[in-house]
Amino acid sequence: MKDAAPQATRLADYAPYPFTVTGVELTFRLSPSATRVLARIGFAPNPARQPAGPGGHDLRLDGEKLALLSARVDGRPVRPVQDEAGLTVAARDLPGGSFTWEAEVEIDPAGNTALEGLYMSGGIYCTQCEAEGFRKITFYPDRPDVMAPFRVRIESDLPVLLSNGNPNGAGPGWAEWTDPWPKPAYLFALVAGDLVAVRGSFTTTSGRPVALAIWVRKGDEDRCPYAMDSLKRSMKWDEDTYGREYDLDVFNIVAVDDFNMGAMENKGLNIFNSKLVLASPETATDADFERIESVIAHEYFHNWTGNRITCRDWFQLCLKEGLTVFRDQEFTKDMRSEPVKRIEDVLTLRARQFREDMGPLAHPVRPDSYIEINNFYTATVYEKGAEVIGMLKRLVGDDGYRKALDLYFARHDGEAATIEDWLKVFEDATGRDLTQFKRWYTDAGTPRLTVSEAWSPGKEGGTYTLTFHQKTPPTPGQDRKPPRVIPIAVGLLNPNGDEVVPTEMLEMTEVTQSFRFEGLASRPVPSILRGFSAPVVLDREVAAKERAFLLAHDTDPFNRWEAGRALARDALARMIGEAADPSPALIDGLGAVLADEGLDPAFRALCLHLPSEDDLAQALHDAGRVPDPDRIHAERLRLEAAIARRLEPALSAAFAAMATPGPFSPDAASAGRRALRLACLALLTRIDGGHRAAALFDTAGNMTESAGALANLIAVGQAEAALAAFHDRWNGNRLVIDKWFTLQPALCPPDRAAGVAERLAAHPDFDWKNPNRFRALLGGLSANHAGFHAATGAGYRFYADWLLRLDPVNPQTAARMSTAFQSWARYDADRKALIRAELDRILATPGLSRDLTEMAGRIRGAADA
Ligand code: TRP
Ligand code: ZN
Repeated sequence: MKDAAPQATRLADYAPYPFTVTGVELTFRLSPSATRVLARIGFAPNPARQPAGPGGHDLRLDGEKLALLSARVDGRPVRPVQDEAGLTVAARDLPGGSFTWEAEVEIDPAGNTALEGLYMSGGIYCTQCEAEGFRKITFYPDRPDVMAPFRVRIESDLPVLLSNGNPNGAGPGWAEWTDPWPKPAYLFALVAGDLVAVRGSFTTTSGRPVALAIWVRKGDEDRCPYAMDSLKRSMKWDEDTYGREYDLDVFNIVAVDDFNMGAMENKGLNIFNSKLVLASPETATDADFERIESVIAHEYFHNWTGNRITCRDWFQLCLKEGLTVFRDQEFTKDMRSEPVKRIEDVLTLRARQFREDMGPLAHPVRPDSYIEINNFYTATVYEKGAEVIGMLKRLVGDDGYRKALDLYFARHDGEAATIEDWLKVFEDATGRDLTQFKRWYTDAGTPRLTVSEAWSPGKEGGTYTLTFHQKTPPTPGQDRKPPRVIPIAVGLLNPNGDEVVPTEMLEMTEVTQSFRFEGLASRPVPSILRGFSAPVVLDREVAAKERAFLLAHDTDPFNRWEAGRALARDALARMIGEAADPSPALIDGLGAVLADEGLDPAFRALCLHLPSEDDLAQALHDAGRVPDPDRIHAERLRLEAAIARRLEPALSAAFAAMATPGPFSPDAASAGRRALRLACLALLTRIDGGHRAAALFDTAGNMTESAGALANLIAVGQAEAALAAFHDRWNGNRLVIDKWFTLQPALCPPDRAAGVAERLAAHPDFDWKNPNRFRALLGGLSANHAGFHAATGAGYRFYADWLLRLDPVNPQTAARMSTAFQSWARYDADRKALIRAELDRILATPGLSRDLTEMAGRIRGAADA
């Protein structure tokens, strides 16, 4: 089968690198399949590292797939010992103290389909070095705790030659760049191509002018203004909110079509997946605009949280990612609506992170071992990492948080830090002991919280007691889960809907703990875990009447939405399990929300969306039942139809009233109106045969409504003409055609999903080596819950076939996409056997990448149990 099992890297084995790097000078002679890279690197002994034996330390450099042409130490040729992963120069070939390493290597950007290191995308040279891609460019200590200033010279006839830092001269056929800020190699970037700039400028609070540019292919300029505007607002926001100023003369963003992830925060030269830059009303949806705004902010915010202060090792990834996600979430709340953003973030957290935490891929926010680090850019590190910071902020308060962050920047600027450093600044700034809190970083799994209530009336008013119990189920490698600190935001309402106790932050630290509220006139209705104050599952049996009451009256918008959500989930569970009728309490509650013009349309839209089929499958599994994907699908449709029939006049009226005439604006208020409009349309389509969707498709003046209408037509099997028209209209626009590829398998009737996916895979536009296109089709299929899980196994087979096809070409993306199989354990024995067979087929494939080997192996792991 395979070679020796790939080695795990362990946090416990961390040791500093024996040398520091005093400076890096790189020269690139670009050529598509034979680029030469000359490196001149200064090394000095690292005082932080224990002395080695009498001979001193060998020089170990990482390097993969590099043809070494020459190597010198202090000008004298040396013959390093080379292996698959790098090279070693024996200590005896090194002088005692500082020295200069010079090497020339040749690499093949045009043949680099893995999109890691230096590669070509549509004729543009670009790089992706995080996490360990720099070692595919030249030999180097490719680890984040080795930081150095870089000087780069690029030689090429291409018109635009970019690297990190400030420009430092250019002439015909060359350009030089200097980055004065010491950085780890994963932040290195180079771009060369026939690009045009959309320019802007920003002056920092202290008066530094910064030249901003977004580099795109000719013809794409008019889809850049929104990204540019988002960038300026991000720069201003980081000054106002965190006191963080930009620190170079230029800030460049480049959009490329072939990219494994969303975007990358390379110092002064962010590289983006073009789908997170390019937007116009005709081509991008409101969701795209929101995503662009938040990712532009995210990458910009990394300049401080990630670049100026970086990670000591990759186990500390959440130090930069959790914090930067938390910051971009706060930014979006300030730009748009706080409650709406909170609900969106919790929806993502539950859909991605809870799912991960409850399955075979569960790992701590700070993992302590990995085989392939690229497999740890996960929802747990990112989204749960952000939640943990939200909890910290709730526990220490806004002022404590600001003080701690000020101390963090002051103390660790220029350093490669750890989670211990991070927690220490909070302890020092606020005087709080965070020993127990640290478990949120080291322990995997989602705590489950149960609650019981007691009420005792009294002359001076009654006493209401809430008793919480916490329990975290075991996760792979971690059986015992000691109790965590859980901030539980609670408010109490009286039976007429007034708030009698405004939000209080209860701090739970024990396994079981009670909190008392005294002097109450009558037994209150509790609103627990307001704002989703901790990433836990609240297991609380609540009568439909009480949920309906909270949906109507809760003063906390998050919990108001949550009450409706739980009501819908319970109603669907009864329809699925007991063939119950659609709940009138739910439908009336939704009707009241729909009619309440005092509520933000975006919020009303969120309330009208029923839990997804995947959420329902998880909820049924949690309740000890085996989810049947076909029944879930059918009953969810039945409930939507019942809602539509009962609320038709109101839905029709809102559908008409929420039209946004006049020129398109992507602002949150307009987007919210369109969201409500489309939420109404989705329900109405269940009973009108698709005629409203067809009419909207024909008249839509923006992509939000055009794609929304198309989605509904696909769902009712009426989309043939619309799909042809859409393809015709957008032929050649990659990002829009991606939508065409994703909507069909995602929304078509489940029994057709695998067939639709197969037909699309044979379409001439299925450029499967492009990660966006691959994700569009495969991600579309796996988003069709009942289609992917079709009892025939056709969905699984198609999906595994394509993972195997992609793996040799782009292992990173193949491995990420394999997570579609992670929830196998929920389903019936037949489906489990089918998934297991696909995982076994994957694992038995000769030459499988270590990326996919690790993922498929972990997912398969307990599959026999
Ligand atoms: N650091 C990037 C971000 O979150 C993520 C990223 C971009 C990445 N490209 C990658 C991670 C490639 C791993 C591999 O902003
Ligand atoms: Zn990031």
